[in-house]
Amino acid sequence: MKNVKSEALEHLSDLVVIAFNKKALKKIILSKPHAVDEIKSVITSKMITSNIVLQLETFSKDNKAYHRNIRENFKKELLRIFRNYSQINVITTVGDCQYMCAKSGNEKLIGDNSLRKMLQSDEIETINTNGNNKIKNYILSGNEDFLKKLGVSDETGRVRDKMQSKFRQINKFIEHIEAIKDKLPTNTINIYDLCCGKSYLSFAVYHYFKNVLKMNVKMVCVDLKADVIEYCTGVANRIGFDEMQFVCGDINEYKMIDKPHLVISLHACDIATDIVLNKASQNGADVILSTPCCHHELNHTLNCEALSFVSKHSMLKQKMCDAMTDALRLMKLEGEGYKVDALELIDPEDTPKNIILRAIKKKTFDSKKQKN
Ligand SMILES: C[S@@+](CC[C@H](N)C(=O)[O-])C[C@H]1O[C@@H](n2cnc3c(N)ncnc32)[C@H](O)[C@@H]1O
Repeated sequence: MKNVKSEALEHLSDLVVIAFNKKALKKIILSKPHAVDEIKSVITSKMITSNIVLQLETFSKDNKAYHRNIRENFKKELLRIFRNYSQINVITTVGDCQYMCAKSGNEKLIGDNSLRKMLQSDEIETINTNGNNKIKNYILSGNEDFLKKLGVSDETGRVRDKMQSKFRQINKFIEHIEAIKDKLPTNTINIYDLCCGKSYLSFAVYHYFKNVLKMNVKMVCVDLKADVIEYCTGVANRIGFDEMQFVCGDINEYKMIDKPHLVISLHACDIATDIVLNKASQNGADVILSTPCCHHELNHTLNCEALSFVSKHSMLKQKMCDAMTDALRLMKLEGEGYKVDALELIDPEDTPKNIILRAIKKKTFDSKKQKN
């Protein structure tokens, strides 16, 4: 952390407070953190219990997101946070500005003067600070009994700070399910969650079909981890989600008993996503929704001279390999009779792993034509 007084950062925090007070602050993206275990942070204005606060969300390399609400001493708190980053982008309704600090310590502030002028205007567009209230538009509100029992929300239905990101993820995932529900049966449905982990998504999906759509649901969730499977079985029993079954095992070995109507998977690591897609397609799933996790295989094996202008930059190589891996996955599913899409799961600010691969079985599919 820099202890030296930085005029640029003082100036920037002043500007942010003006934008915040005028309800013009959209977000602040804090990149190039000094902390080695952090990816980045984002600050947004949120309405929490009738007060507008600044919410700091920090994304760490172990895939966790931490939240902190700043309710007072805004300038002082912002300054303290800003000192931990070498790049800061302030985005407002009337314009943006950027702070950069080089390794040498040289600081640069771009766009601050014009932003200050724009903020002086009396008639500026304000943001909707409904932040947490936005949750009311989601399919899950936080007030559902199962979310309270899972510890996602507290007894008042307020989503706990450390669960905000997971809550948004599962809500968005369900929105993706809602968007394709006409491709699924309307009475009884067989769902598989492969690589379910702690199964927040599985419980939410079960709730959606069982309690919101009032359908008969049979759901099987599979994961390698025995302790997690034992824990989830206990939770399902406690909350009365009777038609949920948790199976401990390798998804590669797992044999689906009922025809899968919907196969879901959230962040199955590396090639586990390929196993999920393969298993789902081989068993004729009607719909597959899968958000891949880390991709390693292509990144480790790619050896292509023609692409060396990209692959010599390790970060760009990773991004290219991620995109190529997902595109190859979709191409394979397309060849197996699916209509495929790559969609955005959630705000990319939330997690870099925000692609959802969607495959919907085509009614008529000529496999011979495909091979030619
Ligand atoms: C990053 S976690 C995601 C868990 C959960 N879907 C979520 O989003 O919270 C990945 C999970 O995949 C499981 N997994 C990885 N490979 C697997 C395999 N071959 N068979 C079953 N589970 C596997 C791990 O045990 C882990 O729980």
